[in-house]
Amino acid sequence: MHIAVVGLSHRTAPLEIRERLSIPEQTMETSLQSLRGNEQVLEASILSTCNRLEIYTLVRNPDLGVSAVNDFLSGHSGLKTDELSPHLFSFHHEDAVDHLMRVAAGLDSLVLGEGQILSQVKKMMRLGQEHKSLGPILNRLLTQAVSTGKRVRSETNLGTGAVSISSAAVELAQLKLGQSRGLDQLVTLETEQIAVVGAGRMSRLLLQHLQAKGASGVVLLNRTVERAELLARDFPDLPIQCRPLSELNQFLSTCSLVFTSTASDDPIIDADRLQPLNRRSTLRLIDIGVPRNIAADAAGVNGVESYDVDDLQEVVARNQEARQAMAREAEDLLRQEAQQFLDWWDSLEAVPTINRLRSSMEAVRAEELQKALSRMGPDFSARERKVVEALSKGIINKILHTPVTQLRAPQNRTDRQQALRTVERLFNLDPATDS
Ligand SMILES: NC(=O)c1ccc[n+]([C@@H]2O[C@H](COP(=O)([O-])OP(=O)(O)OC[C@H]3O[C@@H](n4cnc5c(N)ncnc54)[C@H](OP(=O)(O)O)[C@@H]3O)[C@@H](O)[C@H]2O)c1
Repeated sequence: MHIAVVGLSHRTAPLEIRERLSIPEQTMETSLQSLRGNEQVLEASILSTCNRLEIYTLVRNPDLGVSAVNDFLSGHSGLKTDELSPHLFSFHHEDAVDHLMRVAAGLDSLVLGEGQILSQVKKMMRLGQEHKSLGPILNRLLTQAVSTGKRVRSETNLGTGAVSISSAAVELAQLKLGQSRGLDQLVTLETEQIAVVGAGRMSRLLLQHLQAKGASGVVLLNRTVERAELLARDFPDLPIQCRPLSELNQFLSTCSLVFTSTASDDPIIDADRLQPLNRRSTLRLIDIGVPRNIAADAAGVNGVESYDVDDLQEVVARNQEARQAMAREAEDLLRQEAQQFLDWWDSLEAVPTINRLRSSMEAVRAEELQKALSRMGPDFSARERKVVEALSKGIINKILHTPVTQLRAPQNRTDRQQALRTVERLFNLDPATDS
């Protein structure tokens, strides 16, 4: 059995490919079932975020398993394998484990150390459990990844600063405004007329950062106005006007800065919507939705500047150096966590031998106990029989405790295999007796 991950991310694939591969929560069950339906795939789990789609599997054979996942991705995206493969990465075993630890810690994120990825790893685990696509191995791996993410955030400086895609989006707006005034720096948003489209988790973070960067007010547009109103209540110091999404055109005409972060499958803003607006000043659109909320043709409209998540690279690069140094602090911790999982995985190799050893000892115990009891005859009371039985079990457990612990303990693979073969030979344990 092998652990393998196949996927793509902002490092390997442009947004137009990533958005074709995203798997929304509603179709996660079908996707997991489809993967598990392949006889190569014993366990499966899917991480789908705005910047990555990664499929973690336990497979019988690494090549056949990875090829099964590639076929699934091709079928899901409608892209031919040769169109898709240049954008895919795959890692096996130790490398797959290391990769997941880095992802959970936010070290593979566009915004280094961002916090949302940990909730997304937790969500991948919850969905895998709910849809019964996880078994003991991936369950343990994901638990270890969540623990890694938590430790990195609590024990290193990487967790400080509340960085996210939303904070980078607000910084990009500040940077573009600054550049329009001939300054290569972030400027305050105080005089901007700002709208945010969507009222989910990312919009909440957008509002937090807009407030922190000096926004004097925001129009919050959402399909469900009540949800926007609920969100607005959490920002008593930021004037927020909540409007239905149907009024979007009005605010595209009057606002200077519009952020979009909805989970809509199709673009909400495109050239046809923008063209008739007849605006006098520049409209800056910043879209953090994946799939995109703003169609690519919006950028071609006169007086419109349109940015998507891939454009965030520009601001991310500005403060990456300081965060890289923080990321290095986390490396040791990642290694420890990955090793802990791999030690556990290696120790599983001892399980069949330990089970055979226990069964063999149990057979001897039961046979000898039976002989002794029949020699004692009917004078032996039920209570005395119980005491003798408990004694026999206690002796076996005590004798087995140390060798079983030694066989399971972390050690070099060759040493463990040698120890296992020795135990099998000494106790005449035949693997053919396994059920
Ligand atoms: N979570 C992250 O870490 C993260 C990071 C970067 C980018 N993103 C991207 O940001 C977007 C929002 O993510 P989120 O986590 O904030 O989502 P969320 O909390 O689930 O909120 C979803 C929002 O999208 C709206 N919405 C859903 N379907 C819609 C449709 N068909 N038309 C119009 N509005 C629709 C919802 O409106 P109602 O209230 O009316 O349902 C709600 O405002 C997604 O595209 C996601 O990929 C997320």
